[in-house]
Amino acid sequence: GVTGIDLSDLDGFWAAPLPERAAGFAALRERDPVSYHPEPESPFRDPDGGFYAVTRLDDIHEVSRHPQVFCSGKGSTSIPDMPAEFVEFFGSMIGMDDPRHARMRRIVSRGFTPRRLAQLTDDVATTARRIVDDVIDRGECDAVTEIAARLPMTIVCELMGVPASQHDFVFDASNVVLGAGDPEYVPEGTDTVTAILTAAGGLAELMRDLGAARAANLTDDVTSALVNAEIDGERLTPDELASFFILLVVAGNETTRNAISWGLQLLTEHPDQRAAWLDDIDGVTPTAVDEIVRVASPVIFMRRTCTRDTELNGTPLREGDKLALFYWSANRDPAHFVDPERFDVRRDPNPHVGFGGPGPHFCLGAHLARREMSVMFRELLTRLPDIHATAPPHRLRSMFINGVKHLPVAFTAGG
Ligand code: HEM
Repeated sequence: GVTGIDLSDLDGFWAAPLPERAAGFAALRERDPVSYHPEPESPFRDPDGGFYAVTRLDDIHEVSRHPQVFCSGKGSTSIPDMPAEFVEFFGSMIGMDDPRHARMRRIVSRGFTPRRLAQLTDDVATTARRIVDDVIDRGECDAVTEIAARLPMTIVCELMGVPASQHDFVFDASNVVLGAGDPEYVPEGTDTVTAILTAAGGLAELMRDLGAARAANLTDDVTSALVNAEIDGERLTPDELASFFILLVVAGNETTRNAISWGLQLLTEHPDQRAAWLDDIDGVTPTAVDEIVRVASPVIFMRRTCTRDTELNGTPLREGDKLALFYWSANRDPAHFVDPERFDVRRDPNPHVGFGGPGPHFCLGAHLARREMSVMFRELLTRLPDIHATAPPHRLRSMFINGVKHLPVAFTAGG
């Protein structure tokens, strides 16, 4: 069409080469920055639904700063609204408004204090080292399943105190929950909705059990802090704990995994950037990890709903209208990024919205994600400095998550 990108066509969207996707969003930003689209195909499709795609960075800031007008409480992830039975599982803070959101965020922030992150640093370093130890002699592996996916999954489980014997279960269930639009992750003979409900139900049960165990016997994990802490009389109920865990498993695993996987793909495509990074690992790592998040934009969009009639950048909006904030597009907005299609490991400043816009839902795990990426890339660049993809990434069939399912890589031990 006129815009070069059809946001109602899931298969067209996810299968298009990335430069084509970038060109399509560039056209939208220029000609129709708040544009209306019918709902894409989905298990929850509402035939009368539709949404406004917000593609410029300034407009995403405007929406993020006004959560009373552009709320998260009427759905914030998939474009169609989820059926009622999902809300129990996905009724997490990412889809809440104040005052409930503020209360949840106050409580769970205790799990993400600088002190707790410092405690986790050793775990992150040890896990990253072990991941490289396990593949280093083979010379090749699947960078997604054997490298990128293992670190964040282990760290979320460690953070919450999930026993090692359950880590594989958590990993598989999280794949189903987030990758459910992709046939690879839906078990044979099950429909998508049942598969999601079953996987999420298993995760919830695991966390209710763990919460009960910690309520009886305090340890120093985050689950203990959330079920036992009595700060201003606030603690999480078992259901709140379960939904927070599902949120962490989904929001903390897949995103970081995809950031690491795309980072390896970007290093393969840009030997000059690898050389610059290798040349000054300490100096470049902080800007490089944010540049990977910008270019990859693992969360392609998040949704908001208008709580009243309003307007955005001249486009009139009605109460109930849905917006999709395309972080992937805003991160390529030439009004804010010099030469946006260039991958530049030293880009600074880098005002990307890969972790969300400046508002109450800004990623709770941003510091942890940066720490995980920094440690993992330092480990990879020092020990497997030539690690490179040997085939194109197998991408996740999704419009929401910029996912990589498999990425074959080869390397020689070097450090
Ligand atoms: C929220 C991206 C890693 C936990 C968000 C949002 C984005 C995002 C875009 C904003 C949602 C919105 O606008 O409504 C990412 C990316 C990551 C990452 C790209 C990795 C590169 C993590 C990690 C954790 C985490 C490691 C925790 C272990 C959360 C939580 C929220 C959130 C709990 C909800 C915050 C709220 O609603 O108040 N993330 N995230 N994320 N993220 Fe992350």
